[in-house]
This record gives sequence, C-alpha cells and structure tokens, in this order.
Amino acid sequence: MRYNEHGDIMTKEKVLQILKQNIDYVSGEEISGKLNISRAAVNSAVKALRNEGYEIASVTNRGYKLNGSPDILSWGSVCANLTGDRGERVLVLSETESTNTWLKNEEAGLPDGFVVIADSQTKGRGRMGRSFSSPKGKGVYLSILLRPSCLPSDAANLTAWTAVAICDAVEKVSGARPQIKWINDPVMNGKKISGILTEMSIEGESGRIQYVVIGIGVNANNESDDFPDDIKDVATSIYVQTGNKVDRGLLAAEMIKALDKMYDSWPNEKEKYLSAYRKDCITTGKDVKLIRNGEERKAFAKEIDDDFALVVRLPDGREETVFTGEASVRGMYGYTD
Ligand code: BTN
Repeated sequence: MRYNEHGDIMTKEKVLQILKQNIDYVSGEEISGKLNISRAAVNSAVKALRNEGYEIASVTNRGYKLNGSPDILSWGSVCANLTGDRGERVLVLSETESTNTWLKNEEAGLPDGFVVIADSQTKGRGRMGRSFSSPKGKGVYLSILLRPSCLPSDAANLTAWTAVAICDAVEKVSGARPQIKWINDPVMNGKKISGILTEMSIEGESGRIQYVVIGIGVNANNESDDFPDDIKDVATSIYVQTGNKVDRGLLAAEMIKALDKMYDSWPNEKEKYLSAYRKDCITTGKDVKLIRNGEERKAFAKEIDDDFALVVRLPDGREETVFTGEASVRGMYGYTD
C-alpha cells in the first residue's frame, strides 16, 4: 500500500503524530521504541520538523515536547487525531490535480475507506463540469473510496448522508453548524463553505457498483479576498464566518471520523441521517429556481421526502419530486432577482 508520494509514511510524520498525541514530554527512547528506529533518526526527524516551523522543546532526561505547530496539512497532523490503525488508509499529498482523479486512477488494490487528502489541487473539480477553487494552505480537499456492494440506485443517497457528516465534522471543529442547500452544499449564512462531488464506477455486466469516490472540499481558513472574482458572492469559509482559524489537520481527521461513522451507519440508520438532513436543509419552505439541462423553472420547495429528494410545488399547483439537478434558493447565490 502507498502512504505518501515517497511510497511510505515518513519517519518525520510518525514522530509528529506521537508528539501531537502527547501533551507532556515524550522521551527519545520511547519514540525510537514505538517506531522501531534509532535515537539518531528521532533526532533528525525533530530537526526536520523544527525546520518546518514546529516548536519542539527538548530537555535532557525528559525528551521532547511540542509547544507550537504551523498550519501544515500533513500525514502526522491529520493522523495524530485518529485512533488505532486508521492512519494506514490515509494518504496526504502536498499537491495533486484532483483528489477524486487521483483516487479513481489508483483505486485498484486500495481498500474500502481509503482516504486521500491534498493541501492544494491544481484542477479541483466541481459538479456539472465546474472547477473547485483549491488554494494551498487554506482548505481541506479530501476524497474517500467506498466499495458498497449494491446497485447504483441504492447508493444514490450517499451524497446526502455525506453532507450531514460534513456538517457534523465542521460543527465539531468550529462550534458552528453549517446548513445544507439541497442537494448537497454545506453553507454558512447563505454562502457555500463546502462542495461534494460523488463519482461512481459501474460494472457493465452486472450493473453493480465497482467503487464510489466521494470528494469533499471545505473552505477552512480562506480570507474573503482569497476567492476568485467569479465565486466571491457564492463562497465563504469557516474563518470568514466564525472569525476563528481552524486546525486543518483536526478538521480533516474529524471529516474522516464522520465519514467512517456515516458509512458504518449506512443504510440502516436512515432515519437519523434523514432527520438531521431535514433539520439542516435551508431549501425547504422557500421559493426556488430549478435548473436542469439548462432549463430553469420556478417552484416552491415543500419538503424533503424519504429518499432525500426535493418535493416542489409548481406555479400551476402541481407537485413534483426532484431527484437531481440544482435548486437555487431565492435570496441566495444563483437566485437574487
Ligand atoms: C461542487 O461544489 O461542485 C463540488 C466540489 C467538490 C470539490 C472536492 S475537493 C476534493 C475532491 N476533489 C475534486 O477535484 N473535487 C472534490
């Protein structure tokens, strides 16, 4: 299995994980024993971490203590917040084209639940062929590989479950719970803080799912000026909304935990995710503009049905259930007239 672009988890990242998991001093001996490496290797890892900006105190006979961390998204900063061997199915890249593309290219041989995270994406992809702005050092761009054994129609609601999981993770880290703009946009104060792109591969013969890749981008520490002009009115970040910077390693770990919990609960605990979705959804009870295949229709969003679909009332009084496409909410981005 591959762990990082060098083919293995770097010793430095494993040392960082241990330092982050201990609030007090850890002896060099303990670290070298845990990682089965020499004391000299521990010393050089500590040196490399200091060069990256980590403040690590060292005291004779006591060992090392981490006093301060720069905002770096790395394997150690993410996996320090995960338990057991979960980190063995996590890869953190400093840059890639798109974590969804990476996972789709590399999925053969990778296990269920494998996660790839990038500090930046050069061609971050959004829904409907759009791009997703993914600047370095600002957000979390994460994709998870799932191998559910079912038909595509049975997995269609995974994206909605994921939106709930992402709201859970963001709330845990920031204290502020996003809302969900149907179908799957986590928003804060009416602006988008996150986007979700689900892609599936289906076996032609059986029609069954080969794999699902769910990609999530969260705007964490972006300043208002960091967003390109064309999305300034649409996008926001946790930092802009709450005034507090987020520990992106912790956010990524909470996203993994929430996704694992979601996938463990899926599909049996539907009531729980459905009721959270209905509570979080800002689309219902509002006038909307439905957009599908370039066609626009005005409607009133009545409710979310048991399949996470949107039930709308059309101007002529007819009701319709909408499963896909876009529903811009009146007064929010995409529908301000
Ligand atoms: C959207 O809002 O249109 C969906 C955006 C999805 C962005 C995420 S970032 C991680 C993963 N990699 C991608 O290229 N896209 C998804």
